[in-house]
Amino acid sequence: MKLGVNIDHVATVREARKINEPDPVTAAAIAEMAGADGIVCHLREDRRHLSDRDLRLLRETVKSHLNLEMAATDEMVGIACDVKPDMVTLVPEKRTEVTTEGGLDVVNNIDLIKKSVTKLRSNNIIVSLFIDPELEQIQASVKSGADYVELHTGKYAEAKDANMQEEELSTLQSMAFAATKLGLSVSAGHGLNYYNVRSVAGLDKIEELNIGHSIIGRALFSGLDLAVRDMKKLIKG
Ligand code: PXP
Repeated sequence: MKLGVNIDHVATVREARKINEPDPVTAAAIAEMAGADGIVCHLREDRRHLSDRDLRLLRETVKSHLNLEMAATDEMVGIACDVKPDMVTLVPEKRTEVTTEGGLDVVNNIDLIKKSVTKLRSNNIIVSLFIDPELEQIQASVKSGADYVELHTGKYAEAKDANMQEEELSTLQSMAFAATKLGLSVSAGHGLNYYNVRSVAGLDKIEELNIGHSIIGRALFSGLDLAVRDMKKLIKG
């Protein structure tokens, strides 16, 4: 199982002071040296954490795999086609949210999403859609022409008890099977941490987990190198 490390929270700390450190670009290099298989970053419409400068430098310096999360807007699609990350993950975006709240509603926005997917793919960018683990969203993702779906693990992460967690895990597993059967590749993420990640890492057909907050949070105490190594160990089984 591959690990994509989301480094947005390093930029969040920087933006708390509006100065030039800590630098998410340095964090990406350390995460890669510690074994991250890819770097994930989210360029938001309001540039609340990551900036255009960060994205440009990440493109120049990331040697593994750069996955840009962004909304399906003309501005963002234009930036992506210019910067050319290895992958774009389309996410829903609300200015008022603290983090990405739910999955993308591909079913009800199919034309808009298809247009973005087509443009990105014609620029040789692999496209993933961040969706809730629901069959209709998977079917619509196939119609949109996307290469991957990233299954939202938020409900699993927030499950109140072991039964609910088992249920969510089983949904994630059956949706991962369904997606691969329909020709999509599958990744997963959101809310995964050092305590809940192993069960998701044990699921079949999921290629990669994208994890941000828990790794950067742990890095405050252990350092980023060890935080990435420890997560890598857990998801390797
Ligand atoms: N995947 C996607 C699409 C996300 O938007 C986020 C949050 O930025 C993550 C994964 C990582 O979530 P977390 O920070 O909870 O690990």
